[in-house]
Amino acid sequence: MTRWIFVSDLQLRPDDAEHEERRRLLIERVATEKPDFVIDGGDHVAGQVNDEPEEVARVAQMWAAYHRATAPLTQLCPVIHSVGNHDQTGSNPTSEEYLRQVGRQGQRTYFAKTIGGVHIASIDTTNGRHRGGFVDRAQTRWLRRDLRASRRARCTIVVGHYPVLVAPWVLAHSVLRDEEPGTRGLLLPMLLEAGVDLLLCGHLHAYERARFETVTQVMTSASDIFSEDMEEKPGEYRVAFDKRQTYARFVLDGSTIRGEAVSADGEIVDAWTQQLLPKPG
Ligand SMILES: [Fe+2]
Repeated sequence: MTRWIFVSDLQLRPDDAEHEERRRLLIERVATEKPDFVIDGGDHVAGQVNDEPEEVARVAQMWAAYHRATAPLTQLCPVIHSVGNHDQTGSNPTSEEYLRQVGRQGQRTYFAKTIGGVHIASIDTTNGRHRGGFVDRAQTRWLRRDLRASRRARCTIVVGHYPVLVAPWVLAHSVLRDEEPGTRGLLLPMLLEAGVDLLLCGHLHAYERARFETVTQVMTSASDIFSEDMEEKPGEYRVAFDKRQTYARFVLDGSTIRGEAVSADGEIVDAWTQQLLPKPG
């Protein structure tokens, strides 16, 4: 059996002890689950800053708060990161500081790992400041190759900060916004063709499980900032929803994935099982 946890949107910020404490408690609960690995779906910090010295210092404080809050995880198991819009800092938004902070300085923002038969492709779905997209040709070529190679794994996960399956009103916060307007875009057909079992995302500050054909999208939120519209205007692909701080836990047992969403106080707010998809020849 392989166990993993998905968290997103911790959005640590400086000088806010109560905000940090709520995230610390969530992470502490995650650590008690003893997962084989954890995936962080991005917006590790709440950056939206310029290059002034004061702002550079604020970014350093945000990351210090992130590392403090997540220390119980990093001491426990591998943590796989995916870049979010608030992780991009500087007057020209770059991922340089993010890469440095997650131990990938000088490397690409997208990469893959296989742990316990589970292949995880972490993709970069940012496309400019506070804008989602999947348009980079080099990344597209890399993901096609990577998903072909992932056929050797039992289970395939793609994690990217921006969602793909969203209600029409929230399209501006989706990967689809910049992919190929008016079509299914680039990414979704690749996921379906490759037999991707799970698409993990964040950004919209809610828990949502959505399903389109064979792919299950799971969005979680460690954030306290919630838009009522997320509850009141569901998209057609929504299967389950919750507006509390949540994380998702998964177990791969034989050919079955068991998924559960858990609130910060430990209540199971969603539970489901799905069978692994056959990998294309
Ligand atoms: Fe975000």
